Amino acid sequence: MSLRIEERKNIQVSTEEITRQRQFLEEVKQINYQKELKTGRKKLYHLVTFGCQMNENDSERLAGFLGEMGYAETENINDSDVIIYNTCCVRENAELKVYGHLGALKHLKEEKPELIIAVCGCMMQQPEVVEHIRKKYRHVDLIFGTHNLFKFPELLYTAISSNSPLVEVWETAGTIAEGMPIERKNGVKAWVTIMYGCNNFCSYCIVPYVRGRERSRSMEDIINEVRMLGQQGYKEIALLGQNVNSYGKDMKDGTSFAKLLYEIDKIEGIERVRFMTSHPKDLSDELIQAMRDCKKVCRHLHLPVQAGSTKVLKEMNRKYTKEQYLDLAARIKNAVPGIALTTDIIVGFPGETEEDFNDTIDVLEKVRFDSAYTFLYSKRTGTPAAKREDQVPEEVKKRRFDRLLEVQNRISREINDGYMGKEVEILVEGLSKNNDETYTGRTSTDKIVHFKGREELIGKLVTVRIEQVQTWSLFGTLIEK
Ligand code: 5AD
Ligand code: SF4
Repeated sequence: MSLRIEERKNIQVSTEEITRQRQFLEEVKQINYQKELKTGRKKLYHLVTFGCQMNENDSERLAGFLGEMGYAETENINDSDVIIYNTCCVRENAELKVYGHLGALKHLKEEKPELIIAVCGCMMQQPEVVEHIRKKYRHVDLIFGTHNLFKFPELLYTAISSNSPLVEVWETAGTIAEGMPIERKNGVKAWVTIMYGCNNFCSYCIVPYVRGRERSRSMEDIINEVRMLGQQGYKEIALLGQNVNSYGKDMKDGTSFAKLLYEIDKIEGIERVRFMTSHPKDLSDELIQAMRDCKKVCRHLHLPVQAGSTKVLKEMNRKYTKEQYLDLAARIKNAVPGIALTTDIIVGFPGETEEDFNDTIDVLEKVRFDSAYTFLYSKRTGTPAAKREDQVPEEVKKRRFDRLLEVQNRISREINDGYMGKEVEILVEGLSKNNDETYTGRTSTDKIVHFKGREELIGKLVTVRIEQVQTWSLFGTLIEK
């Protein structure tokens, strides 16, 4: 028992270290304050985030640090004193975009030598990427990875006070840092990361190599954070992890994701709980039961299938068959009536035949997902699938992708049509983009609903009658009670 506690202590960043970082934070704050007094101008940062919600959540932490250091956010890159790219390497496209952005900054750095350009996140956990940036983008001042994000105050302080580029990327499996500042983007919904890393090694995926092994935050830390969010007025919590279903397994004391859900369900102030992502192989009956029992847990489950063919699933190392997935989806729908299922699908995994692809279409037709995130397979160096010689030609991938979209769009639209004339409860999130009278909220099933509303409704659960339906969103009228 004591050994286990020791092990967990080792993955936790010490309070001394967090205090040390707070001191660096103060140092930068002082430097900025002095400069502000001289120039009469607040220091500004520009932060761009790529990839998943866990990256968004990491960026909220960077924003938390920056805010406490006296920086304000700006959309205008030319005005910034610090520019940060929080990167993603799940697909090649995201990586190419980062290089594009970095290339475009060369002139700005020449004009403003004191500008700090930083890149962090998953891409930086790949040594060849770091090498490439060091060689080709010499104007980058600071490179750091996912495991040492908590050291950002120290890294920024060092970058500001030295003239040479700074690279600090930890290869280690990573740690958990508690007690860092955070500046959340949204005042109604809050992301809470409950675990880091992934142990699954799906054969196409780079995540386990860049995010390390699974590490769960303690239930106590998570519950305290959610309680605080409830007190601060947040209404919806999204629990995040690469594979939330295996939450707690590393603690080996019976802690499970289902148990966490039951606890979070009791927290005052919080009206809705969502979570992602769930791996089908780990979705236990205990969790299905918890989804059914917990009043606040939304009737929505994101359950990536990735492919329909059992052969492809095996080669992807997903550890379930087509039939097992269909059976699981049916059991969930049965246990939680009206639940919306969404999924991720990869098209054109190496060796995928037309017949394999038809299995994916078949799963779509059978499960009838509310929506699907569809991706063209992207070769990721270092993963087993990238070494395969039977890569699917681009034009074949593209053709299959278009067909998949056509089928899914039809299904999404048909499901949305079913909402016509219905009264639904939505949590109001804010104004719709580009419109100062139309507000946006979501149903428990994660449907976006637009309606004419008022500012004081933000953060409230209201009822709306659906009067117009599109593939991606619904439109309705507020029912005043
Ligand atoms: N190519 C295409 N899509 C990928 N994903 C992960 N790795 C790859 C890859 N190499 C997709 C999966 C995963 C989602 C986050 O990204 O569908 O669920
Ligand atoms: Fe990647 Fe698979 Fe882990 Fe998801 S479960 S992060 S797809 S390795």
